[in-house]
Amino acid sequence: MKNLLVTGGCGFIGTCFIQYLLEESDFTGRIVNVDKLTYAGNPENLIDIEKDFPQQYVFVKGDICDAGKMAWIFDEYGIDSVCHFAAESHVDRSIVSPDAFIQTNIMGTFNLLECSRSRLKDLIRFHHISTDEVYGSLGREGYFTEETPYKPNSPYSASKASSDHLVRAYHKTYGLPMTISNCSNNYGPYQFPEKLIPLIILNALEGKNLPVYGDGLHVRDWLFVRDHCTAIWTIMKKGKMGETYNIGGSNEMENLKLVEMICDILDETNRLDDHRSRRELIRFVKDRPGHDRRYAIDFTKLNQELNWRPEASLETGIRETIRWYLDNRRWVERVRSGEYQTWIKTHYT
Ligand code: NAD
Ligand code: TYD
Repeated sequence: MKNLLVTGGCGFIGTCFIQYLLEESDFTGRIVNVDKLTYAGNPENLIDIEKDFPQQYVFVKGDICDAGKMAWIFDEYGIDSVCHFAAESHVDRSIVSPDAFIQTNIMGTFNLLECSRSRLKDLIRFHHISTDEVYGSLGREGYFTEETPYKPNSPYSASKASSDHLVRAYHKTYGLPMTISNCSNNYGPYQFPEKLIPLIILNALEGKNLPVYGDGLHVRDWLFVRDHCTAIWTIMKKGKMGETYNIGGSNEMENLKLVEMICDILDETNRLDDHRSRRELIRFVKDRPGHDRRYAIDFTKLNQELNWRPEASLETGIRETIRWYLDNRRWVERVRSGEYQTWIKTHYT
């Protein structure tokens, strides 16, 4: 892989993946990061990468739905492999306004597939990043495997399911060399503070209410973002073409317990001024419509075939994440105030 196209590299997971590839992995090629810079994309995340790896890193502001621009990027940079992260990613937003999800997640993926189809002889691999939410919801027992039928429940997961089907169909129909990974909920540094974990960390730090949807007994399997990135790179190097791999963190927890855990860790070192326990800030709020009860991943295939397993326990990962948000208040302030958007406007047309 000499010229790897990473889409959505200024988002949460894409940032970690680019940092991991250039700073820690055995990748020696060039990364071309294409990102539309929606509210979730922050190129400031990669300023150090831009400085430290001028030969190995290029950023292009672009929309994956723009067929002309994407074709130009493939040709201009001699793209020979793709790692496709770009998406609208937040379930709550997809409930309020699904349009962008259909455009980017389905049409944008289709567009990338068409670019790849017309350059098949140059393409080593198209790796598509997806979610376990395509499988729907589990009861108390059982795990999602790669054979679990798709049964998405939100506009977000339905759009991701649609893109997964397209990627797989391009393999069967046109011989596209592709792999797909479906992972569980990620957490870690640089996550936009609309998602549960960063939202709770920041609200709890500031003594604000902690919103827990419904009864708080919904279960997610939490995957530390760095573990996700090592899994993706393992699949990109060794994954069998045409295959899907599930990626999980072996860290199932009910939302309420997770929120309580964050409260207790913060109370250890950063007491609230009035010395109340942060658990007192928890508020049960109206549930999300169509809220999936439980996700849990069986990643035996990835473990047995490619010898991958996650390293972070939920507690070590959460502690590292809390530390990051404490140490990066400026990042938080710029993101929350929208200052990063102003910076984007002055730097990119
Ligand atoms: P994110 O929302 O933090 O980042 C998405 C990035 O894509 C942003 O930088 C945004 O600017 C960019 N983008 C959006 N629309 C674009 C377009 N039309 N053209 C180009 N760029 C565009 O998302 P994330 O959490 O980093 O997720 C990355 C991928 O991983 C997504 O495909 C998501 O579905 C998948 N995923 C995420 C999780 C999770 O817990 N975060 C779990 C499973 C799967
Ligand atoms: P989220 O981080 O939005 O990820 P996803 O919807 O993709 O799983 O939410 C994680 C879980 O936390 C989910 O069960 C919804 C719940 N949740 C809350 O209880 N309160 C909140 O404020 C948010 C954002 C999520």
